[in-house]
Amino acid sequence: MTEYRPPLGCRDSLRLDFNENTVACSLRVREVLGRISTGALTRYPEREPVEAIVAKYLGLAAPQLALTNGVDEAIHVLFQAFLEDGDELLLPVPTYTMYEVYASATAARVVPILAGDDLSFPFERLLAAITPKTKIIAIANPNSPSGTVATREQLLEIARRAPQAILLVDEAYFHFYGETIIDLVGTVPNLIVSRTFSKAYGLAGLRIGLLAGPVELMRWIRRVLSPYSVNSLALACLPPALEDETYLNWYAGEVIAARAEFEVALDAAGVRRWPSRANFILTKIGPRHAEFVRRMSAAGVLVRDRSSDPGIDGCVRITIGTREQMRKAAVALNDTLAALKA
Ligand SMILES: Cc1ncc(COP(=O)(O)O)c(C=O)c1O
Repeated sequence: MTEYRPPLGCRDSLRLDFNENTVACSLRVREVLGRISTGALTRYPEREPVEAIVAKYLGLAAPQLALTNGVDEAIHVLFQAFLEDGDELLLPVPTYTMYEVYASATAARVVPILAGDDLSFPFERLLAAITPKTKIIAIANPNSPSGTVATREQLLEIARRAPQAILLVDEAYFHFYGETIIDLVGTVPNLIVSRTFSKAYGLAGLRIGLLAGPVELMRWIRRVLSPYSVNSLALACLPPALEDETYLNWYAGEVIAARAEFEVALDAAGVRRWPSRANFILTKIGPRHAEFVRRMSAAGVLVRDRSSDPGIDGCVRITIGTREQMRKAAVALNDTLAALKA
């Protein structure tokens, strides 16, 4: 299997390396956490009632939705359920690392489809790569680490052209983008959508995500899914997290405003960047990317070196937080770039 080692350390810094919420979750979630009973800890968690609440919130029927231990578990379970020897997983790259990691635990072959220099979605190349062996096509939308997107029409065309395959659209960064295809779950027979509570909702530590798809496909997924992988604390926190739309809208709005400001700062500094619809921006730092990341860390700002991803040598991904945080990050960026030039 492919090994995955997340970077650790310097936790007091401004964490712009994991695309997390950089502030906190909703206060309503904190209140519910403070009232958790010992009974809730004693009992095995019951996910169905909360699945029904989340499904209703998303306009879906309960059997169309499964809560998971983060989208990571969702990807793992989906791949375990469907990928067999001789199957192919189509993966536009560069993309989220865990698709490849979980695919490597199956006997299927990964078919990477490299994005062009502008890192736009490789739509035509992906269509050309579809074969009768294609079993899953996994598309993060917006994509990480590039921040670029596939349009709804492109996704629908892919679903039409690969009826034998499952199209997974991973909408982990939906709240910073605003466009979704989740409304077509159940209508498009091979469409499965994932969402996470780790990003805009600020609950990465609780590990909650979901898969939404046609009932028939979800039945297979439930067979593989551990019945207790979403714990009681996570389940208790989901309804208040969903209810506090004011908080969510504030946070997403803040990030979108900060993203626009930080783009201006990057342009002023002469750093190449790609247009992003997510809570991060991919930047081209060049051959001294590792030193850049080290110096930024020393200046109290953690950023993520993506240089070893396919096609993006010398690139660093920077998570977007609030405007205030990103103004500090811009100062660290300018100081670091000046130090690299000196
Ligand atoms: C595209 C994408 N999907 C899924 C995840 C993981 O989500 P979760 O924390 O719910 O496992 C990430 C995390 O960075 C991501 O970038």
